[in-house]
Amino acid sequence: MAVREILKMGDERLLRVAQPVTAFNTPELQALLKDLDDTMLAANGAGLAAPQIGVDLQVVVFGSGEINPRYPDAPVVPYTELINPVLTPLGDEEEEDWKGCLSVPGLRGVVPRFKRLRYQGFDPKGNPIDRAVEGFHARVVQHECDHLVGVLYPMRVRDFSRFGYAEVLFPGLAVDDD
Ligand code: NI
Repeated sequence: MAVREILKMGDERLLRVAQPVTAFNTPELQALLKDLDDTMLAANGAGLAAPQIGVDLQVVVFGSGEINPRYPDAPVVPYTELINPVLTPLGDEEEEDWKGCLSVPGLRGVVPRFKRLRYQGFDPKGNPIDRAVEGFHARVVQHECDHLVGVLYPMRVRDFSRFGYAEVLFPGLAVDDD
């Protein structure tokens, strides 16, 4: 369909609590998912949430099934379209890692996330999704689902000495303007 504009931090549409999807397998939902796909691919993103393109619905896409040039060392996450997600941490263990966001271009920060996680929701046809994941996969899901409750990753940063511009933090590394 189309590569859409990605809203940037400061836009109040990124701060809303998104509405649940009530009708599955509709042309409107398919069109939204295609736009999310096209936009994520064009930006080399690891994931994208509907609120980031101004759509107030609980819809996220993430993963690729292929190596992502922005996260070349990350394990491959299966491409997933997830609707009305519910996240349940499995244990208290947290992991910290650097994170960027397409709505916060040029910046990186260290964000703590639950290491293990169960996520449930629906695919575009309304079939249930129920997975237990860990590591990078769990991090991506937590980041994307935060977008559905109006949370951007800088709000999760605990140590602002580990938050800054990617070109300064990682000089010499090719960094996308994500
Ligand atoms: Ni993001």
